[in-house]
Amino acid sequence: MKNILVTGGTGYIGSHTTVELLNKGYDVFIIDNLSNSRKEVLNSIEKITGRMPHFLQLDLCDREKVMAFFANNRIDATIHFAAYKAVGESVEHPLTYYRNNLVSLVNLLEAYEKYNLDNFLFSSSCSVYGDQSVLPIDESAKLSKPESPYGNTKQIGEEILSDTIRVNKFSGIALRYFNPGGAHESALIGEYPLSPPNNLVPVITQTAIGKRESMTVFGNDYDTPDGTCIRDYIHVVDIAKAHIAAVERLLNKKNKNKFEIFNLGTGKGNTVLQAIQAFESVSGVKLNYKIGERRAGDVVKIWADTKLANTELGWKAELSLDEIMRSAWKWENQLMNDPS
Ligand code: UD1
Repeated sequence: MKNILVTGGTGYIGSHTTVELLNKGYDVFIIDNLSNSRKEVLNSIEKITGRMPHFLQLDLCDREKVMAFFANNRIDATIHFAAYKAVGESVEHPLTYYRNNLVSLVNLLEAYEKYNLDNFLFSSSCSVYGDQSVLPIDESAKLSKPESPYGNTKQIGEEILSDTIRVNKFSGIALRYFNPGGAHESALIGEYPLSPPNNLVPVITQTAIGKRESMTVFGNDYDTPDGTCIRDYIHVVDIAKAHIAAVERLLNKKNKNKFEIFNLGTGKGNTVLQAIQAFESVSGVKLNYKIGERRAGDVVKIWADTKLANTELGWKAELSLDEIMRSAWKWENQLMNDPS
């Protein structure tokens, strides 16, 4: 069976993707520095799949160690998740973000060049689009300046990958995630924020369970039906499955270009208040929220045109916003009962 390297494999999207890969019979090698995840996730992955991935605790910014890894292991494809992802933090500490997210990518690609490797998947983000007026947004849209250094590392990361692929033999795909949420149906893995989260879904579940007293809806005077921002919320298990489709497209040489980009979204936008209503209806919990000021850097509305991923990857998001909220709530309750 093929060996797949998953960087950031103990993290949120990485752990869900590892589960899907193991279930399909792939051998998974995880590299993670555990800066924002826990090693116990490996046990949960084993509980779900009956298989333990290989694990190496390593910082991808350490070039020598990255080279040594590839010298000693035959890797058929890499899915590169490992990165910092807090938008606000990236505004406060831009160099930390540029160093971590870009040096790690350059090190991996240098190893790809040196060892003549093939098949590289890059975790990108809809934040590369910045503020856009034509919606839904497709992959050919001209990119605006990202709203944050975090978004910029994704935009620059895509360019680094594209430029590197142009002068090498290998192929790659960048997947632009819209707003991932939810957790595995087993509630054994999910989003595990080591510091207080800023993303809507964990903020909602933490408020509902009482970890936070209340939450704020950031602005209700936008040009949208109820005045709150619109996003394309997509279930993390749908995202994980898209990675299987993308990695198999590369492994089976089905790609039409050496470098391809796909949106991963549902194609449907929901407002913040709709997301809150969905949570309240599936959980039966009344959320303590208030309307507050707009948050700096928020785009007003964005949702994906998913045609390209649907036709080329043969993949379509299947799980609803209700399912995102239901599984995220089950996960939050599980964390409360067994915080280990
Ligand atoms: C942004 C990026 C996304 C990136 C993610 C990483 C865009 C369009 N999206 O997501 O690519 O992966 O950060 O963290 O740039 N909200 C509240 N109250 C809260 C929290 C959020 O009202 O306490 C609202 C926000 O104003 C926003 C929506 O919920 O309208 C979603 O926010 P969030 O979950 O933080 O994601 P984005 O900012 O869309």
